[in-house]
Formats: sequence, C-alpha cells, structure tokens
Amino acid sequence: MGKYSDNPAAVAALVQPHQVHKDTYIDAEIYQLEMRHLFSSTWVFVGHDSQTPTKGDYFTTQVGDQPVIMVRHSDNEIHVLYNRCPHKGTKIAIDRSGNTGKFFRCPYHAWSFKTNGCLLAIPLKKGYAQTEFNDSESAKGMQPVGAVHNHRGFVFARLAVEGISFEAFFGDSLSSLDNMVDRSPDGRLEVAGPPLRYMHQCNWKMLVDNQTDTCHPMVAHESSAGTAVKLFDAANWPEDKPKPVAMEIIAPFMSPYEFFEDMGIRTWPNGHGHTGVHHSIHSDYSAIPGYHDAMNETYGSEKAAEILGENRHNTVYFPNIMIKGPIQQLRNFIPMGPDKTLVESYIYRLVGAPDQLLARTAMYNRMINAPTSIVGHDDLEMYERAQEGLHSQGSDWINIQRLYEGEEDMSVEAVENGTTERQMRNQFDAWSRFMTMSMPNSEAAE
Ligand code: FES
Ligand SMILES: [Fe+2]
Repeated sequence: MGKYSDNPAAVAALVQPHQVHKDTYIDAEIYQLEMRHLFSSTWVFVGHDSQTPTKGDYFTTQVGDQPVIMVRHSDNEIHVLYNRCPHKGTKIAIDRSGNTGKFFRCPYHAWSFKTNGCLLAIPLKKGYAQTEFNDSESAKGMQPVGAVHNHRGFVFARLAVEGISFEAFFGDSLSSLDNMVDRSPDGRLEVAGPPLRYMHQCNWKMLVDNQTDTCHPMVAHESSAGTAVKLFDAANWPEDKPKPVAMEIIAPFMSPYEFFEDMGIRTWPNGHGHTGVHHSIHSDYSAIPGYHDAMNETYGSEKAAEILGENRHNTVYFPNIMIKGPIQQLRNFIPMGPDKTLVESYIYRLVGAPDQLLARTAMYNRMINAPTSIVGHDDLEMYERAQEGLHSQGSDWINIQRLYEGEEDMSVEAVENGTTERQMRNQFDAWSRFMTMSMPNSEAAE
C-alpha cells in the first residue's frame, strides 16, 4: 500500500481547479486506484448490440482492466459476464468474438455455463455430492458485472453492484448518442466491421483530454493536414468540380483558431461534454444523394432538418469513450497500464441510408484513426512525448487553466468559447469525485 491507497484526501489534492498533479498520469498506484474505484463505479462502454446479433453470439473486451464477455442469451437479452471460470479462474473465451451456441464450456475441466452465466453442468458431479458445494461461490457460475444498460444499442456496464444509475450518470448528455442513432432513417445503427486497433504508450487520459483540445489541430496536424491543403491548393482544382472526399475530411483540421473559438463547448455533470455546439469540422460535408430524402420520409422535413442540423464535433462520455455523431464513429480508450492505452475506433452503418455514407465514414476512420493514418500519428507523437516529459522533475503540475476565471458556470446552458479547457476541468472534477467516493475514509476528501 502506498501513499494514496485509503487516503482520499491525498487523491483529491491532486486536482486543483486550474492544474492537476502529474501523478494522475504516471503513478502506478493511482492507476490501480482508478481501476478499483473510477472504472468500477462509473458506467463504462462495453460494445454495440449489433456486434452480437444472434443468440449465443459473444464478444470479449475489457471494462477498465477487467476482462468481460458480452453475450446474447437465449431470451435475446445482452449479458456482460466476467471472463473467468468460477472453478479455478481460467478465461472462458479467448477469441475476440464468436458464437458459443447454448452454453460456454471451460477448456480446463469442462464445467459449462448457460449464456447468462448460470452453472449448467460439471463432469463427474457426484464428487461434490457429500460437500457443501451448493453454498460455494463457484456454484453461482460465471459472475455478471454489477449492472448493464442498453441505450439504443449501446451497451454500458457498471462493475459495482451498487452505485449511480445509468440515467443519473449520463443525463442529458445522451442527446449526442441519440442524435447519432436518429441519423438513421430506420432509427438504428449497425456496427460496420471490427474496430481499428492502435496501441499508444501513454496514459488513457491523454487521449480523453485530446478530444476537446481545440488548440492543437492547426499545430500538431500541420505536417499532415497542412501538407495536404498546400498540395491541393497548388493543384488548382476546378471550382465547379466536386472536392475529393478525402480533402473534405482533412482540410477542416487546418481551420484557424477563430473557427474553433466560435464552435463552442458545452459540458454536462459527471465529466461529460462536447465541442461543436454551433458548427464543427463535420459541418460542410457534401450531401449524399438520396440520404436527405430518406430522412425526410421517416421524420418529416422539419424534424429531419433538426437532426441533421446538429453537427457536434466530439462528445466525451467520461471516463473513456468519445463519439462523433455526424460521422458515426466511437472511440474507446481502453486502459492497459499507467503508460499504455489501447485505442479502438468503431464505425457504424446508418440503417436505411445510402452506402456512400458508410464509405465516407470508413474513409474518415482510416485517414484519421488507423495505425496507418496520416493524422493519428501526429497525436500519438504528442501523447508519448508528454508521457515521457511528465516523468521528468521539471514540474509536478499540468495546466488546465485556459479561459478559467475563478467560479465557473458549469450549467448545460452555458456554451463557452470553443478553446476553453473547461471540459478537461469537468473531467477532473468527476475523476476526483468517483475516485474518492468509494474509498475508505471518503469524507476526508470532501
Ligand atoms: S478451471 Fe474451468 S472447469 Fe476447471
Ligand atoms: Fe489531433
């Protein structure tokens, strides 16, 4: 046990309104406490229910550092179970996904479990007849996580049995997820293939912070987006010829500071927030033939215009996902250690929309987020340099003060200048609360 375990006051002291201590990003004990407290007491994204469309379909992932299986049970309900055999601990499923049929079977001694986790059979069960096996932990089968909630196809889990409800945790922030789903003329999304996976040698919060960091694109992405814009300008593209989709995607990254200032930022309680209240880098994409007609048919022209008029940029669902409604993307920042994060970037098909939309979405993901991306590397380089720099003795603090003027109006109505670091302050406010509320002596952190 180190200086932070059982010491919520010391943990809370790492976060000040305008700066945070470097231990929040580099300290191994803090990382362990994040896994035990923050990732346990909040609602964490697991997957989309279209990843498991048929009974017996499963998908393996992590909630925080906990290995879990998301599986569709025989009653069509989605269950999230710890990926651990109740006999001796063996991981039940190793593949990323598959169909297990009516039951899981442990590869070690062949105990089997229904797809809701209940123990189904044990070979040579009579060996337990004279024991009090039925009262044992193992007799309960594969353990479910504390709570599961499916919001319009998006499955979230809370590891802790007791805690904040899904509705209270996310509140009005669900409007971003809803907008992404409403963009489907059928009101439904489908995952489009496996995610692009990209390992980063940095703390998971580096990635989360970056999602609302609007002062970096024109600087960090100058080498990629700036070069693309220069080359395109030099090519004298005819005015009347449609711009290549790749240019529509990459050019807005080079927008000037004023563009990002004007886009606006809004925050919600519990660490959620989004950029792009007024406009975003996704606002000026060309219309896809047939899409607006399909939307008008489903929703009527007024409602369709309202749905498509929302061009939110990045919405952070604290602690660790970001979604982009207008381009149907979700990025999951999976913690692998204090200095290591696996990034998974998913895209979704708008059911009922023309395929051309999905083609643009897939192109965006490849260009911006793939390990072969020309843009994602710029960010990776910055995160990894920052992670290395924080290990130096230069200073103990990281600044999150941009446009902080003392008391802040954190209400949803307060739309701030898009270059504020208010969302980072909002995240750390939530970080501090969820880290300490379930620790022993938690009143010391008040
Ligand atoms: S460890 Fe799973 S059946 Fe023995
Ligand atoms: Fe970036």
